Amino acid sequence: MSQGLINVAYIGATILFILALSGLSQQETARRGNIMGMAGMSIALIATVAGLVTGNYTLLVGALAVGGFIGFVLARRVEMTQMPELVAILHSLVGLAAVLVGYSNFLSHVEELTGVEKTVHDIETYVGILIGTMTLSGSVVAYLKLSGKWGGKPLMLPARHWLNLGLLIFAIYFGIEFVNESAQGDGLFPLVAMTIIAFLFGIHMVAAIGGADMPVVVSMLNSYSGWAAAALGFMLSNDLLIVVGALVGSSGAILSYIMCRAMNRHFISVIAGGFGSGSSSADVEVEGEITTISVEEVAAMVNNAKEVMIIPGYGMAVAQAQHMVSDITKTLRKKGVNVRFGIHPVAGRMPGHMNVLLAEAKVPYDIVFEMEEINDDFPNVDVSIVIGANDIVNPAAKEVPDSPIAGMPVLEPWNSDTTVVLKRGMAAGYAGVENPLFYKENTRMLFGDAKESLEGLFKAIN
Ligand code: TAP
Repeated sequence: MSQGLINVAYIGATILFILALSGLSQQETARRGNIMGMAGMSIALIATVAGLVTGNYTLLVGALAVGGFIGFVLARRVEMTQMPELVAILHSLVGLAAVLVGYSNFLSHVEELTGVEKTVHDIETYVGILIGTMTLSGSVVAYLKLSGKWGGKPLMLPARHWLNLGLLIFAIYFGIEFVNESAQGDGLFPLVAMTIIAFLFGIHMVAAIGGADMPVVVSMLNSYSGWAAAALGFMLSNDLLIVVGALVGSSGAILSYIMCRAMNRHFISVIAGGFGSGSSSADVEVEGEITTISVEEVAAMVNNAKEVMIIPGYGMAVAQAQHMVSDITKTLRKKGVNVRFGIHPVAGRMPGHMNVLLAEAKVPYDIVFEMEEINDDFPNVDVSIVIGANDIVNPAAKEVPDSPIAGMPVLEPWNSDTTVVLKRGMAAGYAGVENPLFYKENTRMLFGDAKESLEGLFKAIN
């Protein structure tokens, strides 16, 4: 394939990636966005393979087939609730790729550069391997934490900020050494030393982050993996990789920032680690009694209601109750009840988790509202139904200053006439904090698996 054609293909792919990102920003266009992303990636892959002057095509096609097959099987098997783990482990592969390409680039000396060009190339290689290694080890720890194989408690080493600073200074020192030694045709030692440091830094960075802040970590690693890919692009002089890496890097950074704002966290405090997780569930004291309710009573309540607000959380995803929720919504709306949904930005286990599930169950978009749009409406709501949500409706975030979720904006169903909470028992949510909502006078607990409870409710309202 001629270079001109490859450039055209790369520009086409870049445009498709940008359209994909803008499509993904809204539910109505998300599917189209996804398709554009897939088309862009296919064009990029084909153009890259076709553009190879020399190459072992058998190896290449073999690697594509094996990688594609593994990805296909994994994506088909993974449960929606395991998505963040999958994303974390995929980020680690981007990091690994950056490290491997960086080393092979350095060891094979493909480009015979001199002077400033060589220095710039060496810095690109160094930075690429640095970000790649941090992404790799950090993502593996994030995967282990999200899948529960590594405890949610933050690792609080004494003087950990000094430790981080020390590692950073060493990384810079070895960087200078690397550039100097590389000019003499050497440099392997500082490169390996930095790789070890970056590896430890990645582990320490994520290990120091508490359970409640993990969503931010996942999107931050997403951003890192983008920068690692961009660094790869510089190393390989591949413009498309630079653009795509920068798109992923910057959109991940913006998402991290938005999520920090949604959880009232300072970005720097989150990445410096151990923030917002120092205290334990014992810190939130609860008063009052639990009042339970039966399915029939809930049915009578919603049948007589004018305004119903549904707040879905992680438990709805676990129970796969979204279709039942959709059926109940349809029935009630036919009866003239105004049913709406209130979605917290970090409900569930990944950004947009609830929106995806509700869209899958064909709940109309125009009755699904974000937290800021709907929070002031609760005083006008007759019945709020909390389905498997916990942290995102925890008043302790507002009322208990030293709780692990203090300051996180939450949905406020307690301001409605009655709140019905569907959950299996009295287990705490993701952040491990007691929830005073369950003990409020106007709260009723409907215990049981969310799907089973909703099936009962569906029968009872018909
Ligand atoms: P959580 O606080 O995790 O609470 C979920 C609740 O669902 C639990 O209390 C659990 O109680 C209940 N549950 C579980 N399975 C159920 C079932 N089959 N039927 C009925 N109830 C069930 O969820 P949330 O309110 O959605 O908050 C999300 C939390 O996850 C936040 O702390 C957030 O920071 C964190 N997080 C979010 C993300 C993103 S990006 N969204 C990523 C990682 C972490 P029982 O066991 O008693 O039933």
